Amino acid sequence: MGAFYTLRGIHSTQARLYLRAGTFVGLIASVLVAFPTGDQQAKMVGRHQPVTLAAMEGKFTGGSMAGVAVIGQPNIAARRLENPIEAPGALSFLAYGTFQSYVRGLDEFPEDQWPDNIELLYYSFHLMITLGTLFIMLMMVANFQRWRGRLQSSTWLLWVLMLAFPFPYIANTLGWMTAELGRQPWLIYGLFHTRDGYSKVVSNGDTIFTLIGFTGLYFVLGLLFLYLTGREIAHGPDGEVVSGAGDEVIA
Ligand code: HEM
Repeated sequence: MGAFYTLRGIHSTQARLYLRAGTFVGLIASVLVAFPTGDQQAKMVGRHQPVTLAAMEGKFTGGSMAGVAVIGQPNIAARRLENPIEAPGALSFLAYGTFQSYVRGLDEFPEDQWPDNIELLYYSFHLMITLGTLFIMLMMVANFQRWRGRLQSSTWLLWVLMLAFPFPYIANTLGWMTAELGRQPWLIYGLFHTRDGYSKVVSNGDTIFTLIGFTGLYFVLGLLFLYLTGREIAHGPDGEVVSGAGDEVIA
């Protein structure tokens, strides 16, 4: 909002305040998401769901100094990662705390325990960490520019900050997809298969009807959210502070 108001040249005092608070909190929050929270999640997956970790990274064979692929596409049929460019040791470190740690590969687990959609799991995980890394970089640049007193005049950066707003929602959804796809084929890990977890007294029709109902409800709530947020942004802050007028407040 601060970037939007600055680009439009309106509500300048509030815009400066929003930019200052937003970039400061954004930097702290984006670092916390990667470390310690993301890091701890990875360690938990490594400890309790080693087959999920192997699938998240498209690791078909185990090894130490296991890397995180910056680029690469898993080829399930050929049991390999195509065109990989890896950060060596990063997965070993992320999951077990040292670069030399051994990360087990998918070939060390029976195939019926592999997550069923390894490609989607792999891409969800990688897009999430790519977005997380980009958020940190963006917030570092924004804070650096703010420190130099150049944030308000960096038009390109204000555009990037403004257009970045949907991406944390996307990263959240990718994180949820990573967790949900990663725990397949289990409903209760190692004990209870998803395929055994449906109710025999609820018909397919009832399930689809309920799903459509919830999808519709969330769609309407989403539209309402966008409408109300847009209306508040267009309305602007209530008490306009006029800079240079001795903090005078215009109602
Ligand atoms: C920057 C580096 C990041 C790392 C290393 C990381 C790592 C992870 C890991 C390992 C998982 C666990 C998946 C599982 O339980 O199977 C996870 C889940 C998740 N992540 Fe990330 N993540 C990062 C960035 C982000 C960002 C930027 C967001 C959102 C803004 C995000 C949101 C989530 C969510 C919502 C979950 C699902 C939690 C759950 O349902 O249990 N992550 N992340």
